[in-house]
Amino acid sequence: MLIAPSLLSCDFSRFKEEIERVDRAGADWMHLDVMDGHFVPNLTFGAPVIKKLRPHTEKPFDVHLMISQPHRYIDDFCKAGADIISFHTESDSDIDETLKLIEERGVKPALAIKPKTDIDIVLPYLDRLYMVLVMTVEPGFGGQSFMADMMDKVKRLREEIARRNLPTLIQVDGGIAKDTIRTAYEAGVDVCVAGTAVFGAPDAKEAIDEMKKLCQ
Ligand code: DX5
Ligand code: ZN
Repeated sequence: MLIAPSLLSCDFSRFKEEIERVDRAGADWMHLDVMDGHFVPNLTFGAPVIKKLRPHTEKPFDVHLMISQPHRYIDDFCKAGADIISFHTESDSDIDETLKLIEERGVKPALAIKPKTDIDIVLPYLDRLYMVLVMTVEPGFGGQSFMADMMDKVKRLREEIARRNLPTLIQVDGGIAKDTIRTAYEAGVDVCVAGTAVFGAPDAKEAIDEMKKLCQ
């Protein structure tokens, strides 16, 4: 199981130090939540902030776009140093066109779905996707409860990926902690985003190690 700490829960006044801290603690990827106050009722940061953070770790930057018109900003996030870009099927952008923009720039594309969205919407694109992000909370805020009923989507996706023999990864985001990660693992998840469970822990390394240990 890969663990991608969500920087949404870090101390923003010490952004660089927080990245270095979770890097040392064994984070596999850095999960960066971009919110526009329109697609979700919250605002975070954009490409200029990500660009400034990029030199401070070698871990992959997993950029989760919770914005209404992702196609307008793909270029900016690619130039800022994103390794993986997830955008939502519920956004206003054309899925095929937006995937093309990410592909053309050599960045790994991912599609994200909100809890009320059916998994079938991603299936026509599956062979082009590096990853599918199944949200396990309503996007917008950290610290919400894990929606275990989303595991049906994960299982369906896992079956479809196996049937087509694809390398596509499955990620879940929201409410992942010691008491929920095993459920995600058993459903077939490859990458867990964790905000509160990592940044809220007294010892980030211990939190990451324990969550990984629960997935064996
Ligand atoms: C929610 C974000 C998540 C969030 C997860 O919209 O996409 O990445 O930070 O936070 P926790 O792990 O606290 O649920
Ligand atoms: Zn996220």
